[in-house]
Amino acid sequence: MKITFAEPSTQKSFAPKSGALVVGVGPKPKLAAAARRLDSATNGALSRAMSASRFSGKEGQLLEILAPEGISNPRVLLVGIGDGLNELELENLGGRVLSHLNRVGESTSNLFVDAGAKDLATAAARIAYGARLASYRFDQYRTKESADSKPTLRTLTVRVKGAANARRAFQSLDKVADGVFMTRDLVSQPPNVLFPKSFANEAKTLTKLGVKVEVLGEKQMAKLGMETLLAVGRGSEQESQLAVMRWNGAGRSTKPVAFVGKGVTFDTGGISLKPGAGMEEMKWDMGGAGAVTGLMKALAGRKAKVNAIGVIGLVENMPDGRAQRPGDIVTSMSGQTIEVINTDAEGRLVLADALWYTQKRFKPQFMIDLATLTGAIIIGLGHEHAGLFSNDDALSDQLAAAGRASGEKVWRLPLDKAYDKMLDCPAADMKNIGGRSAGSITAAQFLQRFVNDSPWAHLDIAGVAWSQKDAPTTPKGGTGFGVRLLDRFVRDNYEG
Ligand code: BES
Ligand code: MN
Ligand code: ZN
Repeated sequence: MKITFAEPSTQKSFAPKSGALVVGVGPKPKLAAAARRLDSATNGALSRAMSASRFSGKEGQLLEILAPEGISNPRVLLVGIGDGLNELELENLGGRVLSHLNRVGESTSNLFVDAGAKDLATAAARIAYGARLASYRFDQYRTKESADSKPTLRTLTVRVKGAANARRAFQSLDKVADGVFMTRDLVSQPPNVLFPKSFANEAKTLTKLGVKVEVLGEKQMAKLGMETLLAVGRGSEQESQLAVMRWNGAGRSTKPVAFVGKGVTFDTGGISLKPGAGMEEMKWDMGGAGAVTGLMKALAGRKAKVNAIGVIGLVENMPDGRAQRPGDIVTSMSGQTIEVINTDAEGRLVLADALWYTQKRFKPQFMIDLATLTGAIIIGLGHEHAGLFSNDDALSDQLAAAGRASGEKVWRLPLDKAYDKMLDCPAADMKNIGGRSAGSITAAQFLQRFVNDSPWAHLDIAGVAWSQKDAPTTPKGGTGFGVRLLDRFVRDNYEG
C-alpha cells in the first residue's frame, strides 16, 4: 500500500472522483469542513445516514455510506473524532480506517484531515503511521488465499493543509514502522526457517543502513567463556550465535546505550521438556532479540542522533544426547557458576553471558534487555503490560513514560534481596530457578547478578510479543512490541 500526502482540494466540488472519501465528524455530531461540503454535494446523504444510525461522532466510531447520490465515489466513510485526538488516538484512527477499507474491498481512498487536532499536519502524519502499522501482514506461506479475504487498498492519499510538513513528519515514523515490521517478520517466521544462523543473517542486512554488524560463532564464544549461553544450544544441530549491532548516530565521545535480546529461536524446554500442546508458540521465544533488531533498524533508518548497541543471543533449546542436563553446573563468562535445575529456564542463561559481555565490552550508559522470559509474567500482567524490573529509578520512569506515550505499556515490579536469596544453592553460586512463587521476579534477580554495576532495566515481554486478537495498529500475531516503546524512549531522552 502506498501512502501519499496532498493539499486538500480548494474547489467546491470534490476533486477525487473515485475511491473512498474519508472525513472526520466531531461529537453531537458536528461535521468538519470536508464532511460539510460533502454533505451538500450529496444532498444531505451524510446527515440522513447519521440520523438513521447510532453514529454520534464519538472517537473510534465509523459509518460507511455506499454510493451516495450526487457524487461518483463508491463510498464515504465518516470517522468519529470526538473532542479531538491525541497521538495514539490518531494512530488508532488511521489503523481502523485502513482495516475497514481493506475488509470492504476498496482499492483507493482520500482521507481528509481538517479537524480533531491542533497541528493538522503532524496529526495527518500520525494517522498515516497508524494506517501503515495496521497494513502489516505475514502471508508469505499462504499460497491458496481466496481473493475476497486479501487486502485490497493500494493507495491512501492523506489530504491536509501543509502537506509538505505532514510528509516530513511521516518520514521518520515510516522508518519506525519499517523496524516494527522487521520484528513482526522475525517473530512470525517458523523455526525451521529462522534459526540462529539465519537470524544472524537477517541482522546483517542492517549493514545497508549503516549499522555495523558482527556475528560470533560457538568457537569465539567458547574463547570468551560464554559457557552458559553455549550450554543452552548444546542439544541443537544449529550453531549458536551472538550478533552485535552498532549504530553510531552521535559523536564519538557519547557513551552508547545498549539493548540486549533473548533470541531462543525455538524453546522445547530441552531435557526439561515442555508439554506438547501449544509448543509451536515457542517459535516466538526470540521476541526480545527480534525487538532489539527491529529497534536498530528503526534508529538507523531514521538516523537517530544516538550511539546504540544491540546484542542478541541466538540459540535453539533442544533435547538431545548432547543437551545439557538438569544438575549440570556451568560457568558463566562472569566466572559465576550456575546449577541448572531446569533446562527450560534457558533464557536467563543466554542473557547472563550476553549482558556480561555487553557491559564489559561497551561500558554503556545503561543496558535494557528484552526477553520472553517467564510464563509467570502472563499470569501477573496478562497481555496489557510488559514487566519492568530495574536497578535505576530514573531509567525506570523514562521507560514507563515512553510506554504510555507509545501505547506499548510497561509495569514495574520489585527487585529485593529477599527474592535474590531464593536463587542460593549449596552446589554452586546459584541455581537457575527460584521455585514456584514470584517466578518473574526471581528470573529478574538472576539477570541482575550479571549486570555488574551498570544501570539496567529488564523487560519481560512474554505476554506482549504475540497477540491472539487484532488491535487497531497491531494485527494479531507478532506485535513488534518494544520497537515503538524504545524508539520513543531514545527519542525523548537520549538524542541531542
Ligand atoms: N520461553 C519461556 C517463557 C514463556 C512462556 C514465554 C510462555 C512465552 C509464553 C521460558 O523459557 C520458560 O520456559 N520459562 C519457564 C521458567 C520456569 C522453568 C522457571 C516458565 O515460565 O515456565
Ligand atoms: Mn524455556
Ligand atoms: Zn524460553
